[in-house]
Amino acid sequence: MPGLKVESLTKNYGGKTVVNRVSFDVAQGQFCILLGPSGCGKTTILRMIAGLVPQEEGRILIGGRDVGGLEPKDRDIAMVFQSYALYPHLNVYDNMAFPLAVRKTPRRETDARVRQAAALLEIEQLLDRKPAQLSGGQRQRVAIGRALVRRPSLFLFDEPLSNLDAQLRSSMRLELARLHRSIGGTIVYVTHDQTEAMTLGQKIIVFDKGIIQQEGSPQDIYDRPANLFVASFIGSPPINILAGLVATGGVAVVCAAAGVEFAAEGRSELARCAGAEIRIGIRPEALRPGDGPIRAVVELVENLGADHILHLRAGSAMLVAKLPASGTGPRAGETLSLQVSPAELLFFHQGKLLQ
Ligand SMILES: Nc1ncnc2c1ncn2[C@@H]1O[C@H](COP(=O)(O)OP(=O)(O)O)[C@@H](O)[C@H]1O
Ligand SMILES: [Mg+2]
Repeated sequence: MPGLKVESLTKNYGGKTVVNRVSFDVAQGQFCILLGPSGCGKTTILRMIAGLVPQEEGRILIGGRDVGGLEPKDRDIAMVFQSYALYPHLNVYDNMAFPLAVRKTPRRETDARVRQAAALLEIEQLLDRKPAQLSGGQRQRVAIGRALVRRPSLFLFDEPLSNLDAQLRSSMRLELARLHRSIGGTIVYVTHDQTEAMTLGQKIIVFDKGIIQQEGSPQDIYDRPANLFVASFIGSPPINILAGLVATGGVAVVCAAAGVEFAAEGRSELARCAGAEIRIGIRPEALRPGDGPIRAVVELVENLGADHILHLRAGSAMLVAKLPASGTGPRAGETLSLQVSPAELLFFHQGKLLQ
């Protein structure tokens, strides 16, 4: 039985469909990410699951139970918001104990749960402080602690790290992964940050304009993006997209702008597109110096220490390559030959990935 099952969830605001027939499952104990740009409907989906906004149509099952018509408090969920939403007049202990107090949980049980969550989050020494006496990262821990003490069937996180600075965000990312390993709860976690999605998610569901674009493991989505939207949304630096023409016979793709012909044998869907205009996707790390077909001039080098990001011009096409740093590496003004292994070339026809 899945931890969460969402069927054909739909929401309209002012005549506009912002969540459009969304269906997905989250396995018991799975860390599932809803990923997409701002405004694509992620928060609305989470709020519908929580029962905070009604849906137009569709069903929501938590642990096999249809929660339609149930109040938020009866859905056995806990939600962590970007804004933390702590009570300013209560200290950390009472903030964390609050959901249990509301449910009239016995004092000893409450105390044990609050102390256990505080230990997991390493905030035991802060229990007497008020939220105003805490840093942003500490406040976020308290908000997470308040969700943990509930021991709900389902955790909902809405961009919980986006108010933190970059360094804290990456350490909290690790802590959340560790926390998930130790408590093993079912989590639906909303973010627009693809790094967060890739590092935390066991399953990622990518959205655009209220519609699911793809779902899969982080590696699936990176290696086999279902369409151009997913290909371009995931990956940093972003994937190179070039215009191409499928040669007669469908065994090669010509990229006139870069003056290159890519061999592409044994791809049945591509073979059926002979003569068609398509898009060629090449990840920056798939471009490697070597005896390859692409001749490119280095325009700019970004040195990231371990990697060099090269901005290149090949004919009239601009390309970005990511190379592991070795020695001084290529310099601006140099001409390079670059190769791509055929297996790493992605081809898109009418926006969709060709197999
Ligand atoms: N209460 C509301 N009333 C009207 N429009 C809303 C409301 N909440 C969200 N929207 C609209 O729905 C769309 C999706 O919003 P949201 O779910 O917050 O997106 P995300 O969390 O992915 O950024 C946006 O266009 C937003 O403006
Ligand atoms: Mg949102």
